[in-house]
Amino acid sequence: MATKISFLNIKGGTGKTSLLVNVASCLAYMGKRVLVVDFDAQSNSSIWLMRLDRWNALNRNPANFVLSVFKENGSLLRNCIQKDVVRDAEGDIALRGLDLAPSSFSLMDLEHEVPNPWEKPFYAHFFDELQDVEDQYDYIFFDCPPNFFHGTQCSVFCSEHIVVPANPDALSVVGFHLLIDKLESFKKQSYRWREERSAPAPEVLGISLNAVKPGANIDVPIERFTAQIERFVAQKKVPQKACVFPEQIRHSISVGRAVLQGLPMVLMSKREASMQVAEDYVHTTQRILKLTSGTMPRIPIPDRSLSLN
Ligand SMILES: Nc1ncnc2c1ncn2[C@@H]1O[C@H](COP(=O)(O)OP(=O)(O)OP(=O)(O)O)[C@@H](O)[C@H]1O
Ligand SMILES: [Mg+2]
Repeated sequence: MATKISFLNIKGGTGKTSLLVNVASCLAYMGKRVLVVDFDAQSNSSIWLMRLDRWNALNRNPANFVLSVFKENGSLLRNCIQKDVVRDAEGDIALRGLDLAPSSFSLMDLEHEVPNPWEKPFYAHFFDELQDVEDQYDYIFFDCPPNFFHGTQCSVFCSEHIVVPANPDALSVVGFHLLIDKLESFKKQSYRWREERSAPAPEVLGISLNAVKPGANIDVPIERFTAQIERFVAQKKVPQKACVFPEQIRHSISVGRAVLQGLPMVLMSKREASMQVAEDYVHTTQRILKLTSGTMPRIPIPDRSLSLN
């Protein structure tokens, strides 16, 4: 059975896609089989992992994208999956084991325009479709849009865990409260469909702080997030182990450069002044493994990029 995790925050631009792409890549490096499902119509993780040229080419056929799984006479999920999606300039596999179910901008039609022929909500339909491929993976990650519409609902319904990438600022603290409220109401709304599938609601593992500027004092946001988590633990809305991850992702312009190069940080050249932020992603991957499986293994990153102990 795959471990299924949504990277979710209702607030936009908090680092959901960057964290997901980089944690997924670290796991693939460890030899894990990872599927990224892009549920954001912005298609950021799809474009990052495929690079624009290959993603554009894929756009010639709508059957290649996740949206098609929701359409009557559409695609099976397994037929949308791009295997070993990270490639070098020659098109050779650059990272084995990382697959992608890509999205295109038309995924936004799922919200209002695509009729639902399934006699069950879209999220229950996608859960059932996922069964077909789930045993091929160790991890399935869902890249969520910054809202709580159909794409996020599908992700949350299919997930066992939720990681909340957030920035260390006052507005993000407010946004976390809203997110927990939304998760609670969705849990009630989807209860019947979960019962039918013996699928428990996902648990929030915690907050991963992103784009932390060197030298910035973020004690106050950390205290506020921690106080919120403690309150939600007491209300049994998040598990006891939920926390603000002690590991943070530092601010680095190389994250944007990695997008342009179509590479995860762990594949960026050693010459890049980006290795520290790549280490941050490795450490956060270890934290996620610790919270989901209880172990915190060393992640063997090859010499061409990082070497970590
Ligand atoms: N550690 C970082 N340092 C500097 N810039 C970063 C860092 N992480 C992400 N960014 C930049 O911040 C922007 C938002 O990041 P990202 O796309 O990962 O967030 P998101 O939460 O997925 O956004 P959205 O809500 O739009 O999906 C991007 O331009 C990205 O390159
Ligand atoms: Mg994103």
